Amino acid sequence: MITPNTFLFMFIYVGTFFQITYSQQRYLANKQLACERFDNTTNGSLCNGVQTSCLSYVTFRAQPPYDSAPYIGALLNSEASMIAQLNNITDVEKIPTNRLIIVPVTNCSCSGQFYQHNSTYDLKYSTETYFSLANNTYQGLTTCQSLINQNPYDARKLVVGTQLSIPLRCACPTRNQTDNGVKYLLSYLVTWRDSISAIGEKFGVDEESIKSANLLSDNDLIFPFTPVLVPLKAQPRLISIARKPPPPPSPTINVPTPTVNSSNSSSSKTKIWLFIGIGVGSVLLLALLGFFLWFVCYRRPSQPVSQGKMVPVSSDYTSAPERNYESSVVTAENVRLIMDSVVKVYNFEDLQKATGYFSEDKRISGSVYLGVIKGDNAAIKRVKGDAVNEINILKQISHSSVVRLSGYCMHEGNAYLVYEFVENGSLSDLLHESESCETPTVRLEWKQRVQIAYDVADGLNYLHNYANPPYIHKNLKSSNILLNGGFRAKIINFGMARTAGSEEEGEKGLQLTRHVVGTQGYMAPEYMKDGVVTPKMDVFAFGVVMLELLSGKEAVTFSDANGNDGKNVNAELLLLSINQVLEGENVREKLKIFIDPSLRGEYPLDLAFSVAQLAKNCVAKDLNSRPSMFDVFISLSKILSSSLDWDPSDELETSTIL
Ligand SMILES: *[C@@H]1O[C@H](CO)[C@@H](O)[C@H](O)[C@H]1NC(C)=O
Ligand SMILES: *[C@@H]1O[C@H](CO)[C@@H](O)[C@H](O)[C@H]1NC(C)=O
Ligand SMILES: *[C@@H]1O[C@H](CO)[C@@H](O)[C@H](O)[C@H]1NC(C)=O
Ligand SMILES: *[C@@H]1O[C@H](CO)[C@@H](O)[C@H](O)[C@H]1NC(C)=O
Ligand SMILES: *[C@@H]1O[C@H](CO)[C@@H](O)[C@H](O)[C@H]1NC(C)=O
Repeated sequence: MITPNTFLFMFIYVGTFFQITYSQQRYLANKQLACERFDNTTNGSLCNGVQTSCLSYVTFRAQPPYDSAPYIGALLNSEASMIAQLNNITDVEKIPTNRLIIVPVTNCSCSGQFYQHNSTYDLKYSTETYFSLANNTYQGLTTCQSLINQNPYDARKLVVGTQLSIPLRCACPTRNQTDNGVKYLLSYLVTWRDSISAIGEKFGVDEESIKSANLLSDNDLIFPFTPVLVPLKAQPRLISIARKPPPPPSPTINVPTPTVNSSNSSSSKTKIWLFIGIGVGSVLLLALLGFFLWFVCYRRPSQPVSQGKMVPVSSDYTSAPERNYESSVVTAENVRLIMDSVVKVYNFEDLQKATGYFSEDKRISGSVYLGVIKGDNAAIKRVKGDAVNEINILKQISHSSVVRLSGYCMHEGNAYLVYEFVENGSLSDLLHESESCETPTVRLEWKQRVQIAYDVADGLNYLHNYANPPYIHKNLKSSNILLNGGFRAKIINFGMARTAGSEEEGEKGLQLTRHVVGTQGYMAPEYMKDGVVTPKMDVFAFGVVMLELLSGKEAVTFSDANGNDGKNVNAELLLLSINQVLEGENVREKLKIFIDPSLRGEYPLDLAFSVAQLAKNCVAKDLNSRPSMFDVFISLSKILSSSLDWDPSDELETSTIL
């Protein structure tokens, strides 16, 4: 049966005589469109090079959410830092949509008959098909045919969450090419209005070598969303990043506007035009129509992957990435996790609506507003300037004791961070407000307090020892701990956080900063004095938080030394008081006085003593005598389990004995 598709292939086969002259790769033409037809070109580049494995390059046009080096790296299984370096961008930078990015693929190797670079993809939407993945998500770097070949899943039964193997098209130079000095082959993705000469100009490569590498003759056509191999004698560099206006809105059937190739008569080598003659255009139209009919009947619709609402990111986002963000440690695995947790980019208008145009009655505190997004409460924080540091950290962290970032938005130089809404406000307010308010809203009980300490220790232990890379929060305090409906704690405010140095670099990951900022009453002495940054500064601050939980007092209390108009204010540090409590005689009596009276004596004194002892160790002057967060977490988990077993009626008996 002669289907419309057959016409297409007959047409494309013009010019195959080149195969005799050169033993390179045959251009895919448009055969990737017919997913049910397999041949040598649809499955990949033939394994005919000198090497069975080589460094190769592919191009990719930035498309949200694949618009930063780590995300593109994760999609294509390439190293983010290498992408960043090759394209002169930073790891954290948003790349403008449609900008051409060169991606190195280190492991282009023979797999059976064909060269390929392996990546994987977890299906995210029920609308995804082998074709939409190959054409839309991977922009033509793979074909539906090779996806079908290398994945056991029925094309009509793809399930969200399934991990697919993605063979990306690549190739290694043939003998013929290496003899001519070619070192690498770059798979360039053709786009609307491209021509071989334009591609050559982009990479400083002559037209003839591209044609021969792809076995193209002068009259052959090239098609958008297909790769063309560009032979390179050195590492690729874009001669000029042409920022063309966006392509015209494409008609439902994706054929370029028919245009007559007018340079037929010219004696010079004619360019290979992407534009298609009117006659050819109609054949193609028929072919595509046939394909579409087949597609509609037998496949699920191939819609572009829905990406949610994306907004153009203001340019100042890209201008100043945080200096201390050690971004090269972002691994592909990490980024996969990030993408699966889906941090959204919100539209500013949506955030305005969600917060009643940031109205005063929606303000929770400072620059944090309550918003309602799709029926769910969210806390929306406005940050002056960029918040890349915090966004990048929170994107990578998924822990129940760390506040979840659901998305962000950049607008007129401000960043808007959208977090999960945590109902009960900050620990600081809950503990200390009752002193000033005549009607204390909530009174935290002993078990709740230990649970909160345990949660925070859990979160910090995760940050220090399990996050990859590890982080130091640097600004832990009771106002940066929020409590949810069940009074479970969540750490917030990662604006000052930074990666913890690895053991190899410097002495036990010692880092120094000249820029000492922090909150009085929580800052470790070595940090205040010398700017020493280690995880032990979080341990110190956590010790102060435990003291607040025990005593209900603030980290610093100000008192008038002269009892007059506040000229001589004394700052009294909570952390200094614990030594007086735990040293000398009558420790139990002193401890009972120290402990928050709002507990009304309803606590196990022995466990309170353990917590006080632990807090005292945490606020030790010498950082080496402080326990690690891991040790603290272990101690607290024991105290928590004893606290949960504790029955207030037992204590009444024991306390009468005391
Ligand atoms: C194309 O594939 C067929 C088998 O499907 C093989 O026999 C043939 O040699 C291949 N063509 C080239 C040029 O390698
Ligand atoms: C890389 O980018 C920076 C600024 O973004 C620019 O100053 C520099 O010239 C660029 N380098 C190259 C080699 O393009
Ligand atoms: C490339 O593949 C080979 C064989 O599968 C593997 O041993 C090697 O580690 C890979 N190299 C890189 C850089 O992924
Ligand atoms: C890529 O995947 C194919 C199968 O999907 C496998 O045969 C091949 O060894 C893989 N190549 C590398 C370099 O890992
Ligand atoms: C292939 O993907 C491009 C870019 O996403 C899209 O514009 C085009 O319509 C797709 N082609 C088909 C046949 O769906």
